[in-house]
Amino acid sequence: MLSGKRILLIIGGGIAAYKSLDLIRRLRAGGATVRCILTAGGGQFVTPLSVASLSGDKVYSELFDLMNEAEMGHIQLSRDADLLVVAPATADLMAKMAHGLCDDLATTALLATDKPVLIAPAMNVRMWGHAATQRNLATLRGDGVAVVGPNEGDMACGEYGPGRMAEPDEIVAAVISALSPPVKPLAGLRALVTSGPTHEPIDPVRYIANRSSGKQGFAIAAAAQAAGADVILVTGPVDLDDPAGVAVKHVESARDMLEQVEASLPVDIAIFAAAVADWRVANAGEQKLKKTAAGMPPLQLVENPDILATISKLSDKRPPLVIGFAAETEHLIDNARAKLARKGCDWIVANDVSPATGVMGGDRNTVHLLTRDGGAASTDIKVESWPVMGKEQVATELVARIASSLTGKTPEKTL
Ligand SMILES: Cc1cc2nc3c(=O)[nH]c(=O)nc-3n(C[C@H](O)[C@H](O)[C@H](O)COP(=O)(O)O)c2cc1C
Repeated sequence: MLSGKRILLIIGGGIAAYKSLDLIRRLRAGGATVRCILTAGGGQFVTPLSVASLSGDKVYSELFDLMNEAEMGHIQLSRDADLLVVAPATADLMAKMAHGLCDDLATTALLATDKPVLIAPAMNVRMWGHAATQRNLATLRGDGVAVVGPNEGDMACGEYGPGRMAEPDEIVAAVISALSPPVKPLAGLRALVTSGPTHEPIDPVRYIANRSSGKQGFAIAAAAQAAGADVILVTGPVDLDDPAGVAVKHVESARDMLEQVEASLPVDIAIFAAAVADWRVANAGEQKLKKTAAGMPPLQLVENPDILATISKLSDKRPPLVIGFAAETEHLIDNARAKLARKGCDWIVANDVSPATGVMGGDRNTVHLLTRDGGAASTDIKVESWPVMGKEQVATELVARIASSLTGKTPEKTL
């Protein structure tokens, strides 16, 4: 797998730098050529002589080295490689990468590259958990940087927790995965995703809404797109950028959403993550409602169309896989089971949206996946409870399940 591959390994200034010596050995044993940049910090932990001996090449450290700029400039260094690996990726290097700083050879090569980048973070548990590091990590992931580790365990500093660099064999596996062509298990399939709240007008300036942010639906649309699907996202009003490569239809009310959903059929997969308002105002004012001496204007509520049930029960154009979301504040699994039966969909993703969970509007989600793969009539329901995850990871996991259910394939492994 590694034969003929060229790796540019950047060794940062962390205790785990000693493991990078073993990493060089393993990468070379697999057939890769390894060229190394040792940062000034990295040079405090391992010697250039060890790195040069193991890599069988000279070690690059200085940005302003006229000889090297003539022989092998920083741009050529980064472009000559098939993959850049940063191990250990210190908090400092991650921060510089996330912000595009380039004040030494390593960070300049990282900014100048047009090749994939894999980082193996390693640092003290508090440095890893710090909001700044987690922000930088999210930025780097968003920029397409692959991440391996860190692992949880005893640390050199005597503390315990996540922050230990992934072991060299894990980094080698991540390198192989990063160099492999992406698997697109949903290629050729059309996926429809709904997201966000709906706004139900009371009058031209007021509306009934809910706290849905749309983040989970957007993440699912992006994950399905990354897995190769042709994705249509029908979203209620949200404060998010449209995901790249996805056809986005912006709507306001439940009735608009149903119209756009129906217009998007046929699809192979429909995922209804939107928090659609159950009711709308029957007597919405055509003009702004005024305060009167008679008191509050009475608002009559009528039921909105049930998008999930409508699409699940179609006889013509029913998508082969229909997935609903159940946002509940009590009796989560029981309510989700009942919803699965009532709506006629195939799977339900149940999540607890009680205020204490911070799910509505937050970045994390705790979900339970209820499936009946024996068709809409099957009563054999399987419940899987997932650990607390970021909404992007929930999306990746869900897309992986969809891929293996529909095609038997799974998407590119997340690092
Ligand atoms: C003994 C010692 C161990 C350190 N270990 C780590 C570490 O594991 N991870 C980390 O992010 N920083 C660690 N640091 C701090 C970094 O060395 C420091 O932030 C340095 O500027 C990083 O350099 P770099 O950007 O070349 O990686 C350590 C510092 C010392 C003195």
